[in-house]
This record gives sequence, structure tokens and C-alpha cells, in this order.
Amino acid sequence: MHCISNSRDMGSLSGRICSCTICPLSISRKNAVPGEGPVDATIMLVGEAPGRDEDQLGRPFAGRAGAVLSRSLEAAGIDRQALFITNVVKCRPPENRRPLASEIQACLPYLHRQMELVQPRIVCLLGNVPCNALLGCEGVTKMRGRLYQDRYFVTFHPAAVLRNRNLEMLLISDFRQIASL
Ligand code: URA
Repeated sequence: MHCISNSRDMGSLSGRICSCTICPLSISRKNAVPGEGPVDATIMLVGEAPGRDEDQLGRPFAGRAGAVLSRSLEAAGIDRQALFITNVVKCRPPENRRPLASEIQACLPYLHRQMELVQPRIVCLLGNVPCNALLGCEGVTKMRGRLYQDRYFVTFHPAAVLRNRNLEMLLISDFRQIASL
């Protein structure tokens, strides 16, 4: 019953996100990307913001960074379908620039509500933007591979692997650690 009402609430939250006009990113987006996954997921992944492919499809991590994510999760023995996957900012920033502080502040209540509904055991922060938005500090290279507040786990953004292939082993090893928590 609890899960049914949570699914319904998540559905209406996603609907509100898709029609949101609170910040100017709503003007340039094609689709908002609320996120996806089971409402009773034990692990939530939080990225930065949709890119071009995600904006086209309305789904998180659907492009090249998403392929790295899927591959790394699989290598760590984690089923992507079992995770709730979302972003700090739900609409694509033009030219994939880093989201502005004002855009993050406008969008953050949606992420907090998603966390309230899913109540994940682990919230995995992919890169500096989610790290800063939820923990108030950044520096993923130093912070990665550890739990904060018994809940937040920090690792690289999969797009970082596209720039530096050596990071893939570290991302996989961080995901393995999450699987063992
Ligand atoms: N990068 C992100 O941070 N999120 C996505 O959904 C895709 C790429």
C-alpha cells in the first residue's frame, strides 16, 4: 500500500517536473528529465543535469556518459534497473554548461522530494555538482569512495571517464564498494 501510494506520488511529482517553468532552463529544454527507477530502490544515483541525448529522450544517462555508467555498474555487479537515477537539475543547461547556483536552488526541492519518496539507503553523488548541492563542498578526487552522513557516497561523474579512461577502474571499484554496503 505504502509503495503504491509512493508510486502515485512519484508519478505526480514527475508530471510537475515535466511541466515546470520555475527557471529559464524550461525555455530552452526539449524535455525535462525527472529521473527513473523503482520507487523502493535502495540506491539512488544523482548526476548533474541532462545532456543533449537526455533532453531529446526525457531519460537520465541515455547518452555516452550513460553508456559508461551502465558498463561500470555491470562490471560491479549492480543491476541498473534496480536503481533510482536522477539529476540535481532536471532540464538541460544550454551547451551543457555547469548549472548555475540559481538553477540548482530552483530545482533542488524536486530532488529532496524524490529522496523523501524513495528513502534510499545510499545516495551516490556522481561528480562535483551533486556533491556540492547536497554536501556543500566539492573535490571528488579526494572525497570519493567514502560515506558521508551514513548515506551519501561520492564518486566520479561517468563523463570524467570519457576524458580520462584511467578513471573507469576507480569508478567500478567505487560501485563495488556501494554494492557491498
Ligand atoms: N550527465 C548527467 O549528469 N546526467 C545525465 O542524465 C546525463 C549526463
